[in-house]
Amino acid sequence: MCGIIGYTGPLDARRILLEGLSGLEYRGYDSAGIALCTVNADIELYKKVGKVSNLKEYCDRRSAAAAHCGIGHTRWATHGGVTDANAHPHRAGRVTLIHNGIIENYHDLTGRFRLEGQLISQTDSEVAARVLDQIYQGDPLAALKELAEMLEGSYGFCVMFDDQPGNIYAIRSVSPLVASCTRSGSLVASDLTALIPYTREYFVVPENHIVKLTPYKVNVYSLEEDFPRVVPEMMCVNWNMDAAMKNGYPHFMLKEIHEQPEAMKNTILPRISRGLPDFSEDGIPDELFTGCSQIHVVACGTAMHTGMVARAVMEPVLRIPVHVTIASEFRYEDPLVDEKTLVIVISQSGETIDTLAALRLAQEYGARTLSIVNVKGSTIARESDFVLYTHAGPEIAVASTKAYSVQLAALYMVACRMAYVRGKYSREEAVRFLTDLLDSVPAMETMLTQADFIRGIVTHIIQSPDAFFIGRGLDYAFSLEGALKLKEISYIHAEAYAAGELKHGTIALISDRVPVIATATQEHVFSKTISNIREVKARGAYVILLARESAVIDSGLADVVIRIPDVDDRFTVFPIAVALQLIAYYASVGKNLDVDQPRNLAKSVTVE
Ligand code: M6R
Repeated sequence: MCGIIGYTGPLDARRILLEGLSGLEYRGYDSAGIALCTVNADIELYKKVGKVSNLKEYCDRRSAAAAHCGIGHTRWATHGGVTDANAHPHRAGRVTLIHNGIIENYHDLTGRFRLEGQLISQTDSEVAARVLDQIYQGDPLAALKELAEMLEGSYGFCVMFDDQPGNIYAIRSVSPLVASCTRSGSLVASDLTALIPYTREYFVVPENHIVKLTPYKVNVYSLEEDFPRVVPEMMCVNWNMDAAMKNGYPHFMLKEIHEQPEAMKNTILPRISRGLPDFSEDGIPDELFTGCSQIHVVACGTAMHTGMVARAVMEPVLRIPVHVTIASEFRYEDPLVDEKTLVIVISQSGETIDTLAALRLAQEYGARTLSIVNVKGSTIARESDFVLYTHAGPEIAVASTKAYSVQLAALYMVACRMAYVRGKYSREEAVRFLTDLLDSVPAMETMLTQADFIRGIVTHIIQSPDAFFIGRGLDYAFSLEGALKLKEISYIHAEAYAAGELKHGTIALISDRVPVIATATQEHVFSKTISNIREVKARGAYVILLARESAVIDSGLADVVIRIPDVDDRFTVFPIAVALQLIAYYASVGKNLDVDQPRNLAKSVTVE
């Protein structure tokens, strides 16, 4: 969480920082701030509660100084409320600092360095700034190293020292940082989106290394004795700035919903060889799939929901246990994981701290790890034994949409390859499965043509404080995601239930006109789900039913029926995902809410 950026070079630092922060705002939008090192080598601070647009206005009003060097921050509050004082940058003596992460031992450090009475904010970050100022004796590398040795927790810091005008120092542990030396100057940021307007080449700041940015040079130093210089591995982004713009759509979320068919093709097509899924270009050997006796899928939020779908698809074919666990639970359990376990971690950002910790735990237990990640070079991708990149392009809206579909596409391909190499699928069956997966793409396109119809039916949902999502089997797994999406961006209390479980308690909540979004696409439990729908209908529910084109639905069963294209049972998730995302999207729009940046959330969750 929190977006950070540092710039030094020939251009207008204020403009670059403010534009960069607008692109990073999805990481946190409680407050924003910049510190500029002026042409007279003074440091000027501008910070404001609220969005980057507030900060821009504030900078204009105060005629922010001309500068060629500065650092900027968008905050997702952890320690201390949402106030101007708690906004970054923090200034302490000769040090100006921005921070992404959490310093866990800030309380101890406050006592040890006698900081009580000096602190202006309630943040852990200011403590780090003040400690750094106390230990700084003119050598930034030595001071940052000493600070790093004292800190517990996670951090990505950018620091300006008063006696080093024009230079920026950055260091990280766990929290992400990327950097680049471009023709327009040197940049460091928490995410690539801030770098892309200036370059496509960048490097990931290695953990526990210091980066020094001067206007025309970026050097990386190891923390070993005498700080030897390290040459980082350069990477290249395969998307451009257009991908990170709204391109005529009113919201990123709607744009990203519409990008799904393309993202699916980009993820699937390069990995087909002779009609079968093939991961040789990804460096993933078949032995990874044949050598395991169980699978654990570990992830958070939407990514975890893809695991729920994958289990329902994989287990019946592979006939080995597939467990799905929330990463924040997995990491504090003593999971039954060993060398014969394949742990699949899923993360759009590749930086989710709980998922990263789960990955590390799995590796400690000797498991082999495969990550499914969207952001190239992210920590999870780098630390897992094997990585399967999804090619969704940047996902900016906080609510995940295209990442969900492509994670599923990748998991379905893994399921298919695994079934084939383990002898569970004949070649024909594997080819058929992959063909069905590809047929899901036009099914999603068809679903997108129903956007206006879906917009029309959300009126009833937005009038209710609650909504229920029900389904059986795979339909239940989709419902979990539908409910998360709705509550996340419309603030309607939405819960998903296995349809057959309602009568064991939840049905007590069904009252007159309460919206029930029922999904009934699984043939083998279709009639059972229909019975459960009748039960809620009999108790006054307003039923929105998602069913196949060909399903025969009695009149009176549902108030609204959304028809989805006829695809094989295992693939209905793809058009259903589009429909459920559109329901959530139009509900949020209908309530006039901030679709892309819902309250209390951030895109990348890098704190526990
Ligand atoms: O970057 P990740 O995929 O690891 O993120 C995991 C969750 O935080 C994320 O999917 C979250 O649940 C979404 N905001 C839901 O739309």
